Amino acid sequence: MTAPQSIHTGSLDVLGGEVLLDVSHVSMGYGDGEHEKRILEDLNLKVGHSEFVSIVGPSGVGKTTLLRGLSGLLPPKRGTVSVAGQTITGPHPDIAAVFQDYSRSLMPWMTTRENVAFPLQGQGVGRRERNRRAEESLEEVGLSGQGDKYPWEMSGGMQQRVAIARALAYHAKVLLMDEPFASVDAQTRFDLEDLVVNLREALGVTIVLVTHDVDEAIYLADRVIVIAEKPATVVDVIETGFGTVRDQVDTKADPRFQDARGRILTRLRKA
Ligand SMILES: Nc1ncnc2c1ncn2[C@@H]1O[C@H](COP(=O)(O)OP(=O)(O)O)[C@@H](O)[C@H]1O
Ligand SMILES: [Mg+2]
Repeated sequence: MTAPQSIHTGSLDVLGGEVLLDVSHVSMGYGDGEHEKRILEDLNLKVGHSEFVSIVGPSGVGKTTLLRGLSGLLPPKRGTVSVAGQTITGPHPDIAAVFQDYSRSLMPWMTTRENVAFPLQGQGVGRRERNRRAEESLEEVGLSGQGDKYPWEMSGGMQQRVAIARALAYHAKVLLMDEPFASVDAQTRFDLEDLVVNLREALGVTIVLVTHDVDEAIYLADRVIVIAEKPATVVDVIETGFGTVRDQVDTKADPRFQDARGRILTRLRKA
């Protein structure tokens, strides 16, 4: 019998290989000067190619704020975010985001195919190629042949698949996800989690996902970054060591999963 494997304290640096996303001394907040509300303080994180990083922290800690910073929607007060060596100063073609509220992110007057293809227009992609990429991405998320449907004809889980397809069609190097499965039922959530696991394996896309759900963070990630306190900072980093394959039953019964869960919940209780 082999000894049970234990979890490892991870580092804020990549495990090996090249850095793709580099978050360096990032502080973020709202308002200016003495009215500044500080949300995140001196956050550092390097993410490698094809890595899956979860960032977990309590509601209100600043997870969405951080993703706004990583996606170029809100500039950090201090520090820099760079992708493939380029500093981000606004929305960037290497970075795509999927947010929690699919009902607001899809346009009801556009078909699924049009929803997926539409953002590519802004990138100067021609119509035929836009439609080709939309079909390809819909197939990748298990929605082939559904391109003519409207979002309101689909279940919540299917709509969130469309939102993921739209991000994939962008051919971004980094996929940012903000609590993407928070508004669907438990079984749909597991299906979507496994879809994302498989996409990472099949396409080699780099994923940074933020969530308040500790189990989801551990299940999906190679590294879990725990953020807490006010202003928020990194309080723990855990390497899961699960590789690229997951199983909703076996992985969650793995002693490493249980160890990580106990450690993170204990740490967040102190926060
Ligand atoms: N546009 C904004 N203006 C001022 N404060 C904000 C704004 N957006 C979020 N906040 C505040 O920033 C803090 C972190 O919010 P958020 O990043 O949404 O947290 P989380 O996603 O972890 O729940 C909260 O106190 C929230 O009220
Ligand atoms: Mg949030």
